[in-house]
Amino acid sequence: MKNKSIKLNSDRKFPDNMVNAHSLLLKGKNGEKGNKTGQIYAIPAFNVTTFQSINAAFNAFELLGSSGLLAFSNSALKHFGNNDQSLGLELVSAYIERRAKDSSVKIATHLDHGDYITDAGRKVLQAAVQNLTSVMADNSTDHVNKCAMPLEDNIDLTREVVNMAHPVGISVEGELGVLAGEEDEDTKSEFSTYTNPEELNQFLLDTGVLMLAPTIGTMHGPNKGKPGQKVKLNITLAHELLEVANKINNDIIFVAHGASTLYPDIINYATEQLNAFKSSENDVKTWNEFVGTDWEQIEGLIEAGFCKINTDTENRQTFLAALLGALEKNKTKIDIRYYDKITTNALTQSYIQKLIMSGNYGVWHEPKIDIKKFKFDLNKVSPT
Ligand code: G3H
Ligand code: 13P
Ligand code: ZN
Repeated sequence: MKNKSIKLNSDRKFPDNMVNAHSLLLKGKNGEKGNKTGQIYAIPAFNVTTFQSINAAFNAFELLGSSGLLAFSNSALKHFGNNDQSLGLELVSAYIERRAKDSSVKIATHLDHGDYITDAGRKVLQAAVQNLTSVMADNSTDHVNKCAMPLEDNIDLTREVVNMAHPVGISVEGELGVLAGEEDEDTKSEFSTYTNPEELNQFLLDTGVLMLAPTIGTMHGPNKGKPGQKVKLNITLAHELLEVANKINNDIIFVAHGASTLYPDIINYATEQLNAFKSSENDVKTWNEFVGTDWEQIEGLIEAGFCKINTDTENRQTFLAALLGALEKNKTKIDIRYYDKITTNALTQSYIQKLIMSGNYGVWHEPKIDIKKFKFDLNKVSPT
């Protein structure tokens, strides 16, 4: 071990109802809801890109009494801040703190795929430590030379982030292994590597991270495999890695990136709208060739200790399908809010569905809806 790893400061006081991501995730790993301990559950980290999607997530968390984890990619921050990531960070953190103040649940905010490799990445990560409650230090890939970052370099860079963030109560997620697919608008990986258990042992001991994204076959984006074929994750490796981590510290949480599922109802709904628009065969083909990871596979990961499940693409699909439907039904409404309300409502439903599937409900209070009767249906979204 390089030197004693810096502990996450649990005395840090955040604004009302704000907490770091690790404390929410640990509740999931220990199966804690209210004063009871039962089955483990996962916390989806929803990538949000607009204020409407933040509202949709709050609506879902508060209806279900869920732990709320909101993730921001670099490009999402740029979008919030009118091309200025620092401004984006300030705006979203102020907005979320204000919403959390009156909330019935606890909320964590997380920088997704931050890096400490580039000057630009370091700047965003440092600002995120000031504004959010959790950060990812993704130093696993050398995107310039298109290869895995040498282990020692990944350890050193991640350790620097832990040294900066843990003392002020900000949890840190590291990554080990290379994940395929698009992880940011500007960052794509055409290759991938599985996490090596021995390297994991060294990485965890030397960095002191409490959240770790290993690679076990998940992939970012809407095309996770060949059309018609099922995505197969390496669940055996996931268990092997969990054993390594638990021997070091039972509080270590695994993170599944690329955890979006594909919902045939959404694909069918979008196809109907495209057909009504007399859209090209190619558009219909593109929608119908999307491949997600089956939920059973993700459940296998949750059993293997993956309590943070990163979820973006399925909600993007829901948003676009709902927008196509809204435009198909009403092409003359000259009011942005009409379309905003429909897509926000659709996102709320999509979030509710994933929170229920993950078991993340009834954590802070009883759900305000009958979860057994909930049915996600884009035909029922309304602008009210
Ligand atoms: O894993 C990455 C997310 O899907 C973020 O994508 O950079 O387009 O916001 P984005
Ligand atoms: P999906 O593309 O499967 O939604 O994954 C998102 C993600 O991993 C964000 O970090
Ligand atoms: Zn990711």
